[in-house]
Amino acid sequence: MDFLDLPPLTAAQGTIRLPGSKSISNRVLLLAALAEGETELRDLLESDDTARMLDALRALGVGVEALGDHAYRVRGVGGRFPVREGSFFLGNAGTAYRSLTGVLALAGGNYTLTGVPRMHERPIGDLVDALRQIGADIAYLGNTGYPPLEIRPASIRPGGVVRVRGDVSSQFLTGLLMALPLTGVETTVEVVGELISKPYIEITLATMARFGVPVTRSGWQRFSVPAGAVYRSPGVLHVEGDASSASYFLALGAVGGGPLRVEGVGRDSIQGDVRFAEALQQMGARIELGDNWIEARAPAAGRLRGIALDCNHIPDAAMTLATVALFAEGPTTLTNIASWRVKETDRIVAMATELRKLGVTVEEGGDFIRVHPPARLADLVPAAIDTYDDHRIAMCFSLAAFGTPLRINEPNCVAKTFPDYFERFTAVTAAVPVIAIDGPSASGKGTVAARVAAALGWHYLDSGALYRLTALAARRAGVDWDDEAGVAAIAAALDVRFAEDSIRLAGEDVGETIRSEEISAGASRVAALPAVRQALLFRQRAFRRAPGLVGDGRDMSTVIFPDAATKVFLTASVEARAERRYKQLIEKGMPASIQPLLQDMRERDERDSQRSVAPLQQSADARLLDTTHLSIDQAVAEVLRFSGQSPR
Ligand code: DC
Repeated sequence: MDFLDLPPLTAAQGTIRLPGSKSISNRVLLLAALAEGETELRDLLESDDTARMLDALRALGVGVEALGDHAYRVRGVGGRFPVREGSFFLGNAGTAYRSLTGVLALAGGNYTLTGVPRMHERPIGDLVDALRQIGADIAYLGNTGYPPLEIRPASIRPGGVVRVRGDVSSQFLTGLLMALPLTGVETTVEVVGELISKPYIEITLATMARFGVPVTRSGWQRFSVPAGAVYRSPGVLHVEGDASSASYFLALGAVGGGPLRVEGVGRDSIQGDVRFAEALQQMGARIELGDNWIEARAPAAGRLRGIALDCNHIPDAAMTLATVALFAEGPTTLTNIASWRVKETDRIVAMATELRKLGVTVEEGGDFIRVHPPARLADLVPAAIDTYDDHRIAMCFSLAAFGTPLRINEPNCVAKTFPDYFERFTAVTAAVPVIAIDGPSASGKGTVAARVAAALGWHYLDSGALYRLTALAARRAGVDWDDEAGVAAIAAALDVRFAEDSIRLAGEDVGETIRSEEISAGASRVAALPAVRQALLFRQRAFRRAPGLVGDGRDMSTVIFPDAATKVFLTASVEARAERRYKQLIEKGMPASIQPLLQDMRERDERDSQRSVAPLQQSADARLLDTTHLSIDQAVAEVLRFSGQSPR
């Protein structure tokens, strides 16, 4: 899937059972593999990042059996991998790459660790330097300080003090600590520089403790792994829900009303990112915590408030605050986020770039970002958001759909940690409603649709006008109507403004011009070009704004708004339609006679229903409204009745 269009949202409510924590899943997989005994892991995250770890462990000869329903049985190897050589591809899974580097450096085999190009731009030198202090033999296969790495058997000189830098990524300390029990002797790790992302070290220590290795620490500077430490299976282990993934849903509750409850993390979580809930609370959201759940609701009165926050304790979840900031009063400043720069992408740059596409003012610096919300939500600009192969960018920006229709490019990147994110997202959100009206020409669908929109105070989309405007703009630019790529480019760049009583193309009122016979013929030609329809897809969806949209046109209920709550196929006998067209022409003082009109209409119906691109068809879930014997008022009343909406 190249893109996913999210409709603008009106509310969020419900309960989400979270997928397992990525941080915990990849740690417990590795420790279960190294341990003595069999471990049954329950609620393990099943995603790209854990798949990379599972692949590597299996290739190392570890017996791993999927038991179904997110449970796995891992037969531990007791500290020694049966396979002594191999090359492992770890994608962009930082948790897998760093921890396997540590463990394999002490494993006495020949191993090569590679990843996606971005993984090869993410630093690992601090970990390699630390491992070399105890004799590890590690070579850089690309740039010094970065993956890919080659690991060779080495005589490890265990014990003593190992120094590791802690101010770039906490994963270096994690990789080192998890590996050290393999040496069998007491080793002390000294952290050089201020340790960032401390909560992730807490997860490391807690999981090592579950596998029988108590690490003692004094402050965040010195850590001791005891002599004779051996990983032992805890038997059965439940993986907590992912607290970072929880942040998107808690934010949904805070922005979209709620209550939105996430299950799988709560008060007793070992994941630092649960403190995201406190940040939301500071912004005015109402938060409730249980042992194993957290629930978020919008403020009791008024809007969320912008905050200034040092985010060192919630580096991943903090990204979510950057999009929640769109809905707050006053700017939000997130500081101490330098680690964003070495993640799946440079997240400070990515965040700022994509927020600006929404028409928002953003300031950024070496280690901070400040988001100024729009004066009014309606000022947010519909935009196509690039995701940089970064799951969190995709998930964070889904929140912006509360302000505007949105396109998320390459949405499948969420598979890194949350493969069915968007399905779950859709299940707990309500979208701005759409009434989609289709039907043959001269059925009166345009008139009825516009009248229904006026009655409800909703927006109105005359999709045919977009094809007419495209035909006109192409003609003016000297582009042939059959030049598919050329016309599609014109359609994509169309500068149109729809107002109460005018349609402007590049500033000029063309409301009359686009109704001419010549442009009608051109519209019908360009509308048959798939690339043109594709180019107008998001533009049409962008008309969907609160409180609602009535759209009329050929594929309104099938392609443009398949989720429309009300779909109507408006028709009338061909005789009645010819008669209506005849009256229209006579009223305009134009010459007309009924027989040729009837003939013309029959042929057009035939052509329209036979054409391969967007043929005229009643979609299976549309309600048929035959207006042969109805007045316009009656037809409008019927559509309103179908929709269940009351006129204002
Ligand atoms: O509804 P209209 O006559 O203004 O439409 C102009 C042309 O565009 C007509 O040939 C039908 C075509 N059209 C389409 O293919 N898909 C739409 N959604 C709307 C119109």
